[in-house]
Amino acid sequence: MTTDIIEQLKWRYATKKFDSTKILSEEKLSILKESFNLTATSYGLQPLKMVVIGNPEVKKKLVPITMNQEQVSNASHVLILCIERKMDSKYIVDYFNLVEETRNTPREILNPFESFLIDEFADKSKSNIETWMTKQAYLALGNLLTVCALEDIDSCPIEGFDPTAYDTLLGIDKLGLQSVLVLAVGYRADDDLFSGLEKVRRGVDEVVIDMP
Ligand SMILES: Cc1cc2nc3c(=O)[nH]c(=O)nc-3n(C[C@H](O)[C@H](O)[C@H](O)COP(=O)(O)O)c2cc1C
Repeated sequence: MTTDIIEQLKWRYATKKFDSTKILSEEKLSILKESFNLTATSYGLQPLKMVVIGNPEVKKKLVPITMNQEQVSNASHVLILCIERKMDSKYIVDYFNLVEETRNTPREILNPFESFLIDEFADKSKSNIETWMTKQAYLALGNLLTVCALEDIDSCPIEGFDPTAYDTLLGIDKLGLQSVLVLAVGYRADDDLFSGLEKVRRGVDEVVIDMP
């Protein structure tokens, strides 16, 4: 793995045209899946799932519901980051079951935090919870973008898509999920004009404030 993080972050860019003949290996895909699972989330609740699309026919169908962005068709794979449709007390109890099982922690030690979270989420509105879950998806996106860069995988984060159309076409709604973000991954095409463009950034001096 390349260790020069800054060089790799300069190398990555939002790829507009992928080489459709270059497909990610199972090993690379598995790194992306593991990285998604290892993303930190608020309270550790992981209210997310990632749908992986590699089928060329399905990818083609995504273009018109992705503002005609061809990246979703010529990328090797399309990763769809989804949030749960429901975050209820059962979900939270299931999470604490997992903590108990994984760490062998007695339930009475977990109980206060478990009750706190159940009450906390019961008090929140549906839209508040949805916003909170969506923030977790953006965190996963950031993590994946960095991992892609370190693994020499090209990617394009995509907000410009129709989540309802995705959910219906792919049956994501029936899985109790809601798509919120898309990440096209693969390898840049030799003639992607964007790969040669200078990075546009405001600059470290402009965006970082070192307090004296
Ligand atoms: C959350 C998010 C959504 C984005 N949505 C799109 C998109 O729909 N289509 C696209 O071509 N680029 C999209 N981008 C890419 C940005 O335009 C791009 O990252 C930004 O201009 C910086 O350029 P760079 O990533 O090439 O350095 C998105 C980026 C982010 C972080």
